[in-house]
Amino acid sequence: MRTHYCNEIDETFIDKKIKVCGWVNKVRDHGGVIFIDLRDIKGLLQLVVNPDSKNVFNIAESIRNEFIISIEGIPRKRPEGSENEKICSGKVEVVVSEISILSKAETPPFQFEDNVNEDIRLKYRVHDLKNRKMQENLITRGRVVTLIRNYLEKNEFLEIETPILTKATPEGARDYLVPSRVNQGSFFALPQSPQLFKQMLMMAGYEKYYQIAKCFRDEDLRADRQPEFTQLDIEMSFVNQEDIIILIEKLFYTIFDKILDIKINLPILRISYEESMERFGTDRPDLRIPFELCTISNIVKDCGFKVFSKPAKEQNHKVSALCIPSAANLSRKDIDEYTDFAISKGSQGLAYIKCNDISDLEKGLQSPILKFIDIKIIKKILSKVGAKNGDIIFFSAGPSDIANNILGGLREKIANDKNLLSKSWEFIWITDFPMFERDQESKKLKCLHHPFTMPNIKSNKDIQDKSEEILSYSYDLVLNGTELGGGSIRVNDKDTQNEIFKALGLNDNEVEEKFGFFINALKYGCPPHGGIAFGLDRIIMLITESKSIRDVIAFPKTQTASCSLTDAPSVINKDQVNELGIKINNKDKK
Ligand code: AMO
Ligand code: AMP
Repeated sequence: MRTHYCNEIDETFIDKKIKVCGWVNKVRDHGGVIFIDLRDIKGLLQLVVNPDSKNVFNIAESIRNEFIISIEGIPRKRPEGSENEKICSGKVEVVVSEISILSKAETPPFQFEDNVNEDIRLKYRVHDLKNRKMQENLITRGRVVTLIRNYLEKNEFLEIETPILTKATPEGARDYLVPSRVNQGSFFALPQSPQLFKQMLMMAGYEKYYQIAKCFRDEDLRADRQPEFTQLDIEMSFVNQEDIIILIEKLFYTIFDKILDIKINLPILRISYEESMERFGTDRPDLRIPFELCTISNIVKDCGFKVFSKPAKEQNHKVSALCIPSAANLSRKDIDEYTDFAISKGSQGLAYIKCNDISDLEKGLQSPILKFIDIKIIKKILSKVGAKNGDIIFFSAGPSDIANNILGGLREKIANDKNLLSKSWEFIWITDFPMFERDQESKKLKCLHHPFTMPNIKSNKDIQDKSEEILSYSYDLVLNGTELGGGSIRVNDKDTQNEIFKALGLNDNEVEEKFGFFINALKYGCPPHGGIAFGLDRIIMLITESKSIRDVIAFPKTQTASCSLTDAPSVINKDQVNELGIKINNKDKK
């Protein structure tokens, strides 16, 4: 139906007959001459319909925005002054000699330029997907996936599919469950990740596996989380952490080079989990922010101000400071807001010092805590955090996780509020995560990654004896404060694996019921192996500078885990319920 795409038509086509087709982006009737902006997947082209060709003109008069048409015509140079620099075909327009309407369209639910609310966009997703920005996002997504496949295939990885109807895989979220009709009362779980299957493929000798895998997690949704999302999932045998990191760094180098023409500096910076918490209060630090946290427990442990001295001496507690350059001019209102933020995260308050003139510690500082702390100690604090005139220092004192959470959160909040982020791409590896942490509510141990991660231990005894101290061979890749992916070297013997399950409080029966198949497979031999998985949606979200992963997924779910286009999930009829052998409790919902 076409000889060319819209964006291909330039001055070299002048006076040559062409055929194009697509959507009417906009139609303008200039009293006698009709202009049509034609849109296809590659771009825009201006068409002109003159009244002298009566038949064509009559058809053109009935054309509305979003009609789908095909035309034949002859490109000519646009009159001077009417060129459009923004589009490839902007120097020409096509005088239409034949036109057909392929499909009529009702008035679209909204204009692309309109600032419509996302609920409407998701309800009318088909129209929304016609928007150039959405098309560019999905085109970029497709290109990135192709690059990934080419890169991994070149490195002899084999793409293998793993099941969607399966047994629960523990990645920390709730499962999506599917009732079985054939085995009534039994349920499949949709995979939270292909973790166990990719490990079993290593046991079976498929040494380099990858998959662009759909994963499902029933968890609280945020801008970078979807209930159904896509992982780039990778696993390799006979490797160590270094091998995996190098493979991935080259992959990201290729993606950023080919898609954005940006050369990432390799090797990517690496810091331990401990250092990351200390310096940034989080394990996904945003290095575009030019200031860090600083622990001052040692300086204030005998300062006499109980709010500081008590946590400074206690185990798992600390006093941390965050010095923000040139922010002493924060208003009372700003500080109140940040104090409320700290209180909402479990603190009693948020101490601060405004450093107006640090050469005069008596009069040059402004702070509600000066009266409680000796000036010599204040001086030490200023020196430790590297304060300069015009800076403000915030303090958080208390349990380490809360203090980290508050100042880590404040670091990001203030940087965003005050536009203090540099415009750059800041990758960082976080390594050496603790193997376990204690859940504050249940007081049970849980894994920071997952139970198949290899602990860094001398003997299996350490798993029970030193569970809260031991680290693991694990690594996350973070870009601009977003966790892109994470992985680890895996446990490859059944004794270590069983000890880990035991530490997590699973008894033999529970292990057998949940992971019997996996332990069984381990018994028959397992090579040393490791891998990693990335959130593909998140990678594309960052590359396209989108605010939400919903903007890089063709048909995403809403914040309430539903699809407004199809109205899924939806009620099923009585026969289906009966057939599945299940009973619906919530009678209010028809
Ligand atoms: P993890 O649970 O860290 O690891 O997941 C890997 C990456 O997947 C992305 N991700 C998500 N993206 C969108 N919506 C979600 N709800 C969501 N949850 C996770 C993140 C995350 O970094 N099996 C292990 C990996 C391994 O050890 O190989 C795993 O799934 O970008
Ligand atoms: P108070 O003596 O409780 O009035 O606190 C004195 C100052 O310390 C106030 O500015 C509080 O906001 C601040 N403050 C109180 N608790 C903490 C805390 N846990 N961490 C940091 N600052 C705090």
